[in-house]
Amino acid sequence: MDETRSRSVVITGASRGLGLATATHLHRQGWTVLAAMRTPDAGLPRLKENLGPAHDPNRLIGVRLDLEDPDSIEAATAQILDAVGVPYGLVHNAGLAGAGAVEEMPVQVVEQMFTTNLFGPIRLTQGLLPGMRAAGRGRVVVVSSHVATSGMGAVSAYAASKSALERWAESLSMEIAPFGLGVSVLVTGTFKTDILELTQSWKDATGPYAALHAALESMGDKMVRFARRPGRFAPVVQRALQDTKPFSRHAVGPDAVAMVYGNRVLPTRWVQFLTTRLLGLPRPQSTPSPMSSTPPPASSPPQPTGP
Ligand SMILES: NC(=O)c1ccc[n+]([C@@H]2O[C@H](COP(=O)([O-])OP(=O)(O)OC[C@H]3O[C@@H](n4cnc5c(N)ncnc54)[C@H](OP(=O)(O)O)[C@@H]3O)[C@@H](O)[C@H]2O)c1
Repeated sequence: MDETRSRSVVITGASRGLGLATATHLHRQGWTVLAAMRTPDAGLPRLKENLGPAHDPNRLIGVRLDLEDPDSIEAATAQILDAVGVPYGLVHNAGLAGAGAVEEMPVQVVEQMFTTNLFGPIRLTQGLLPGMRAAGRGRVVVVSSHVATSGMGAVSAYAASKSALERWAESLSMEIAPFGLGVSVLVTGTFKTDILELTQSWKDATGPYAALHAALESMGDKMVRFARRPGRFAPVVQRALQDTKPFSRHAVGPDAVAMVYGNRVLPTRWVQFLTTRLLGLPRPQSTPSPMSSTPPPASSPPQPTGP
């Protein structure tokens, strides 16, 4: 097999955070990196600076890619195929998060999240998969999140889009395994990137979900302190690319491990009970029976968020 193809990998969202760290690591490990990003003019110099003067320009290719724009995805696909023939690996790392209760977040934002986290990656895969399938070797890696394991208040759209991405990846794996291709899902815990600080929010600090937001904010501040460095994520992507099983799922980081295994052994209501207690979220009220003669109060006051 052509050596360039065997070690070439497309990484989306390579401009910052986990994608930047992964592109840096894989290039240092000898991979030909197709660094896909919305603004290569800004992102590529950052990647080159990370790599230092010793990097090999022949193994570093910037690809302009906006997952919200089908024309951009088509052009990126053509550029990738032109540059390396067919890549070995495709890492769906780019992602968009957003905070806000279901009532607070505009549906256009929900759609934007699904386009970036699911529909865009599907389009890109459709462009690259025919060549990968014909080559009979390759791997698709998707970067999911620990909040996708059982959902979480105030990030419903993000959790739903990542859950959908995981179900899609599992299905894809069953289709392409007979052709010698594999799929890995990385259920990612908390890493110190812009996503923790710069995620856009639609939360109303004085609205009915104020207590939920206050509890999550206080927990978020603590998590930022314990968040791991993006450099610790990158080797996991490399291991996923080198995996030989038709399908694999890895929890990355202790919080992700706890969520994945907790959800495997506990029913959802127990996971929600424990999450509510541990994060100090507003406690649920018992749901009145539809047959009850006493109507529920028109609005209920926020619940205390104590430990
Ligand atoms: N860090 C964590 O704690 C954590 C936890 C769980 C899961 N994850 C997942 O890990 C992945 C990487 O996140 P991160 O932490 O590195 O976040 P980040 O620092 O916010 O980086 C997000 C990346 O996605 C790119 N992106 C966003 N919208 C895009 C679009 N429409 N088209 C192409 N690229 C787009 C961004 O490009 P620009 O530079 O152009 O904006 C950026 O490179 C995401 O899928 C995220 O959901 C992260």
